[in-house]
Amino acid sequence: MVIVLDFGGQYSHLIARRVRELKVFCEMLPFSTPVEEIKKKGPRGIIFSGGPSSVYQKNAPFCDPAVYDLGVPILGICYGMQLMAYQLGGRVSPAGRREYGRTGLNVLDRGGLFSGLEPFEQCWMSHGDLVELPPPGFNVTARTDKAPVAAMADPARKLYAVQFHPEVVHTPKGQDILRTFLYGICGCRGLWTMGSFLERAVAEVQEQVGSGRALCALSGGVDSSVAAVLVHRAVGDRLTCVFVNHGLLRKGEAEQVQKTFKEKFKMNLIYVDARRRFLSRLAGVTDPEMKRKIIGEEFIRVFEDQAAALGQVDFLVQGTLYPDVVESGTATAAVIKSHHNVGCLPGDMRFGLVEPLRWLFKDEVRELGEEMGLPEEVIWRQPFPGPGLAVRILGEVTEHKLAILQEADAIVEEEIRKAGLYRQIWQSFAVLPDIKSVGVMGDERTYSYTVAVRAVHSRDAMTADWVRLPYEVLEAISSRIVSEIKEVNRVVYDITSKPPATIEWE
Ligand code: XMP
Repeated sequence: MVIVLDFGGQYSHLIARRVRELKVFCEMLPFSTPVEEIKKKGPRGIIFSGGPSSVYQKNAPFCDPAVYDLGVPILGICYGMQLMAYQLGGRVSPAGRREYGRTGLNVLDRGGLFSGLEPFEQCWMSHGDLVELPPPGFNVTARTDKAPVAAMADPARKLYAVQFHPEVVHTPKGQDILRTFLYGICGCRGLWTMGSFLERAVAEVQEQVGSGRALCALSGGVDSSVAAVLVHRAVGDRLTCVFVNHGLLRKGEAEQVQKTFKEKFKMNLIYVDARRRFLSRLAGVTDPEMKRKIIGEEFIRVFEDQAAALGQVDFLVQGTLYPDVVESGTATAAVIKSHHNVGCLPGDMRFGLVEPLRWLFKDEVRELGEEMGLPEEVIWRQPFPGPGLAVRILGEVTEHKLAILQEADAIVEEEIRKAGLYRQIWQSFAVLPDIKSVGVMGDERTYSYTVAVRAVHSRDAMTADWVRLPYEVLEAISSRIVSEIKEVNRVVYDITSKPPATIEWE
């Protein structure tokens, strides 16, 4: 395994991901991790990430200098290089000659870390400080117009450093450099697979939970499902899953979750039918934020009741992913919508958290789900908001409107799947705005609901673009909705991106 020491860089998580793409297991640890702890993990290599600090800043992140004496190869990236230079006696010059973006790189030493590179390559720079003089024992292995030391190496001590970012795609040979470091210098063999991640994760959960009991709020989405199945593998019946049907689910969803987890995986699943409870609290409520608050609060109450009925619970399982870990550390964004996350911690409950997916990205979680035999419908499910269809029904949520929307939504999903587009699209769904309009059906005047169809492409839900769905698909969706759902006489397609709109309508 390889350790990435994190100095707070915006690309730190990408380093971990690139390493795993090269089939080497990798764990990210904070820069302040004591050297004893690093040693205990027995890494074959260590990578220092970049970071926003300057080594001259007060409270700049420094690692324990004893890491240089472990005899383990180290690769410093950006701030990681400056730190290495500074701690080992080189000279770092503060600011002045900032370099940002695509930069030409003169490769001076085409052996070692840069084996296979051309004398002139492109790289991606993003720094203020730079190394002016490498520490004793180091050679300068690359330079740029502005950086006299764009890379340095002390092969005898297996210490390497680059000022640029090999982990980003804008450094075209970046992955080759990382490969050389991992395979050529650290001696990693690239044998890591999701299977080995699974084995290790199961063992870690067993160690953490011991003989304790764990609880998991299962939403049916890919993250909580994969986390639950993994923890179930580790602790069996000492895991209890709670699935709350708040009545705001899609058609057939409650049945599907029960079938998967109870029947296929034989898991301890408590199914809570809380439909009445939620709907009665939502009666008469039209304000979007109010709806969200009610659903969030009610969810926690239902969950607390279940937890209390179970007696002693020591751990709460959450499907937190790596990007969530990163965002929660840095998020200062304004509240656009108060997000309701299934599995919020009830305030006065004392649980340990089990988060077996905290190192993984979404696509890796899907691979893990496949490894454990989760059904395709779960693994490839598009994201679905915690408050469910309530945020897709404008105005008051009623049973009648829910039934209409469930039908329309099922048709959208079926047609998108039939067209082979389901996996390529971030989210596609139906919305029921509070609009009725006049139509004509079989010589009769109608006055019925409008359904809006929304389909967006996105990478991370922060921004989104509407999907240019083929006309035939739109036509199939529209004609099926108006002919199969008698309460609907009009279908419109939402052609707004995010921003200025959001993905959901509320
Ligand atoms: P918006 O509508 O803000 O949505 O563009 C961004 C993404 O978040 C999902 N979403 C939620 N997910 N709880 C969730 O777990 C929520 O309260 C919630 N609200 C929105 C939405 O489906 C989209 O993927």
